[in-house]
Amino acid sequence: MSFVTHMACRGFATSAQRLTHIKQITVIGGGQMGAGIAQVAAQTGHDIVVVDQSEEILQKSQAIISKSLARVARKKHGEDTSDAAEFVNTTMSRIKMHTDPEEACKNTDLVIEAIVENLTIKQDLFSRLDKVAPPQAIFVSNTSSLAIDKIATATQRKDRFGGLHFFNPVPVMKLVEVVRIAETSDATFDALMHFASTLGKTPVKCKDTPGFIVNRLLVPYMMEAVRLLERGEASAWHIDTAMKLGASHPMGPFELLDHIGIDDIKENIDGWHADFPDQPLFNPSPLVDKLVSEGKLGIKSGEGFYTYEK
Ligand code: NAI
Repeated sequence: MSFVTHMACRGFATSAQRLTHIKQITVIGGGQMGAGIAQVAAQTGHDIVVVDQSEEILQKSQAIISKSLARVARKKHGEDTSDAAEFVNTTMSRIKMHTDPEEACKNTDLVIEAIVENLTIKQDLFSRLDKVAPPQAIFVSNTSSLAIDKIATATQRKDRFGGLHFFNPVPVMKLVEVVRIAETSDATFDALMHFASTLGKTPVKCKDTPGFIVNRLLVPYMMEAVRLLERGEASAWHIDTAMKLGASHPMGPFELLDHIGIDDIKENIDGWHADFPDQPLFNPSPLVDKLVSEGKLGIKSGEGFYTYEK
């Protein structure tokens, strides 16, 4: 068999296996990220169960997904309201809701966890699911700042564990960071890479390093901007303007901090600092700490580095 034919056969066999493999998905956490992930997966033909803590929260998730799908339908079908309605109904019919995570993942191929950013709570969830999910099912976390390896420790399936880090808003953002820990098997990793591309996303590979690729670069960059300000070397406005006009960034670092939420960045950097106290790029900032203690969290609180009209 020639090299090219051999590769083509291998490619066909593996992608066919993978396609049949990840079909039934359980998304735990129907908040901002979980709802977006469920929407995109349903739009691309997967069957989804979204799990959250109460019917009330799930109703909100459902409403968010259906509103977002209506926007997609308008873009896709324009004034053709019957095609648009069919698109929304068909996609919504692939999404079920559940309040019991153990029950919801009994026949799953893939569990995507998007719950609160707390290691103990995530470990507790995965430890329970590990006992009831099918042995071949893959588990992933969408964590932004926790080590995937620490979360996976709660299970007996580290070879079938990884990270799928989506970006907000999920239906719009094209990137997915696919994260492997030391024990992630090649089969699991290949399946996750393939799954991310079936969602219409561009997957990038990354090891389990703090912040993966995007946040590992972005968070220290924002913290360095704050340190520049703390040292009195330039004002927030001048730093933002410099980065927008000099580096063609769409937002300056302080606009970005206010946009993301200063408390979220603080939580992120504090966690990394605790794990890597010798890394100066992860040092906390007195100014960030002060703003958070005063409730100045950015756009969401009406004031951060800038003030916003409510
Ligand atoms: P969120 O607060 O909007 O949603 C979290 C949801 O999880 C809530 O609906 C909550 O009721 C539910 N939940 C909490 N504990 C649960 C449990 N034990 N079982 C079932 N449901 C539970 O949070 P968001 O923003 O969606 O973030 C979720 C995860 O995604 C976090 O790990 C976060 O770090 C990560 N992430 C967030 C991004 C963002 O921009 N918001 C971007 C990328 C990752």
